[in-house]
Amino acid sequence: VFHQEPADIHLASAGLFGKFDDRQVQRGFQVFKEVCSACHSLKYVHFRDLTKIGYSTAEVKAIADQWAIEQPSINPDTGEPATRKNVPSDPFPSPFANEIAARAANNNALPPDFSLITKAREDGPNYIHALITGYQNPPAALKREFPSFSTPPGLHYNPYFANLNIAMPPPLTADGQVTYVDGTKATKDQMARDVAAFLTWTAEPNLNARHAAGIAAILFILIFVFLAWGAYQNVWRDLK
Ligand code: HEM
Repeated sequence: VFHQEPADIHLASAGLFGKFDDRQVQRGFQVFKEVCSACHSLKYVHFRDLTKIGYSTAEVKAIADQWAIEQPSINPDTGEPATRKNVPSDPFPSPFANEIAARAANNNALPPDFSLITKAREDGPNYIHALITGYQNPPAALKREFPSFSTPPGLHYNPYFANLNIAMPPPLTADGQVTYVDGTKATKDQMARDVAAFLTWTAEPNLNARHAAGIAAILFILIFVFLAWGAYQNVWRDLK
């Protein structure tokens, strides 16, 4: 009863006729880049994929080149592990070398990979928005009903998280945490909506094409039904 259901954020991509709002998806990418990518990987998405949300190839090159985390590589002279700058054909590099390092840095919890997160969680986009804006103190009623309930040190109470105590510290702590290049006011709610839009895109980059194909198929079926009805009228005309 203390678990809460996320509210609907009505993304432009939702519904039968939904299409990504590229400006919003780009803002969400900025939130991912400046906030979430410190802990969450995005290993099935490549820099070059960003051209699908409206970045030019030159912009993608610059984004890859300036990315804070470098790509793992091997020093050709010594054979030792090394790093190099990212190029557009690279996947987004992971912030931690492996699961052990990731857990060591996060109170033994594992920040999940973001590539498919909106598909992996029920009601994904709405859930992400609700989760990252939903941190609060445990309600008094919860303490009354379950006196032994507590949020252990290092965890944070969040009514949208399945077991109510989450290891992720609140990632969005202040309005204006990100300065949007398109001038949109970066309230916490806006940043949460935008990053939810971005993560909807990472999980389904071809949603626009899928929706367009669906609409074309329905139009075709409607035309076909009309033709079939006309043919039926024609075939039986003399027998009326
Ligand atoms: C888990 C979103 C930033 C650390 C998660 C989950 C989501 C999420 C959706 C999965 C919750 C679930 O399992 O249902 C975000 C977003 C961020 C962000 C959108 C940026 C705005 C960060 C940062 C850190 C972090 C900066 C590290 C300081 C973690 C950890 C978990 C987690 C450790 C696992 C929590 C647990 O299993 O208890 N995050 N995150 N996240 N995140 Fe983040």
